[in-house]
Amino acid sequence: MEDVLNRLTVLVNSPSLRIDKAQAVAEVIKAARAYRWVGLYDVTLEEVAAIAWTGSDAPAYPRFPVTKGLSGAAVATRVPVVVQDVMTDPRYLTAFGSTRAEAIFPVAVAGRVVGTIDVESDRTNAFSRADEEFLKTCTSILTPLWVLTTPRCVLRPIGAGDARPLHDLWSSPAVRRFLWDDEVIPLARTRAVIDQNQRMFGDRGVGLWGVWPADSPNLGGFAGLWPFRDPPDVELLYGVSEHLWGRGYATEVAQAVIAYCFDSFDIPVVRASTDAANTASIRVLGKLGFGFVRRSTVGDLDTVFYELHRRARSRASS
Ligand SMILES: CC(C)(COP(=O)(O)OP(=O)(O)OC[C@H]1O[C@@H](n2cnc3c(N)ncnc32)[C@H](O)[C@@H]1OP(=O)(O)O)[C@@H](O)C(=O)NCCC(=O)NCCS
Repeated sequence: MEDVLNRLTVLVNSPSLRIDKAQAVAEVIKAARAYRWVGLYDVTLEEVAAIAWTGSDAPAYPRFPVTKGLSGAAVATRVPVVVQDVMTDPRYLTAFGSTRAEAIFPVAVAGRVVGTIDVESDRTNAFSRADEEFLKTCTSILTPLWVLTTPRCVLRPIGAGDARPLHDLWSSPAVRRFLWDDEVIPLARTRAVIDQNQRMFGDRGVGLWGVWPADSPNLGGFAGLWPFRDPPDVELLYGVSEHLWGRGYATEVAQAVIAYCFDSFDIPVVRASTDAANTASIRVLGKLGFGFVRRSTVGDLDTVFYELHRRARSRASS
């Protein structure tokens, strides 16, 4: 079993797309204990959404409300739900007609469930104590699939369930000033950005992460790479709720995103731009080690452009 756990550790920390890692991980878990099907899911405030699963059989419900099914029970209680005979459990949502036993293991970080591992068997009473121990160890080894962590924060990809708190953050006067040129955007636009974000994470492994300070249940900010310009080029983007400003949060979370991008993808440079008047943001870029590239007018905005090269980062951290 140690072999399997080592393989999972290597896989989850390997430099490849999250969805590919999740699928490979699901296959390893399935093969390790001869399960019939294994799926990995994201959990947000509103829904449970499949990331990847074994084989070519998509689950009947690739996404469902966070309160539903055995998953809903595991998320609400933050403890594993193991059902040895699904026919006797009214909470069970049929995914495959042949499922007889199902176990849902929640992945919790800083008191919040961010994902689940869903394991199904075609035998009743399929799960032994050894299975439970194995799956519990898997949840801790696999945590990096769901989150980035910093000394004070947990970051996870923003999903549909985050629309309202993200919209409130983006609508606040201090944050929208430079982010949305002071416009209060419609909620539908926030939702459209989130849809695009989910596609970005699926296709490219990057996008916007939500930031939750470990001492609060509320969304405190966001950070990530986002496409700007025409033709689109991804740039570093971040923002923090005003009550947290000036305490190093933006620098801390942006550092985690940059480390993830350089460590996971073969990219030589991370770019960033900001309004020339956004002094705090320019200071953050300076603290992160970005170098000034140029200043130009984009639309009618006086904009400054910065870059952080992989080799400069290696030098700074050596
Ligand atoms: C820009 C922003 C992300 C900074 O967040 P933060 O958590 O306060 O950032 P940090 O605490 O890591 O660093 C801010 C730095 O700017 C400095 N700063 C803040 N306001 C400043 C000002 N008006 N003039 C000069 N420096 C300023 C702070 O003193 C600090 O530097 P220091 O550590 O050397 O003291 C935050 O102001 C924000 O969310 N703004 C709205 C969204 C935004 O503009 N995003 C930028 C991309 S469009």
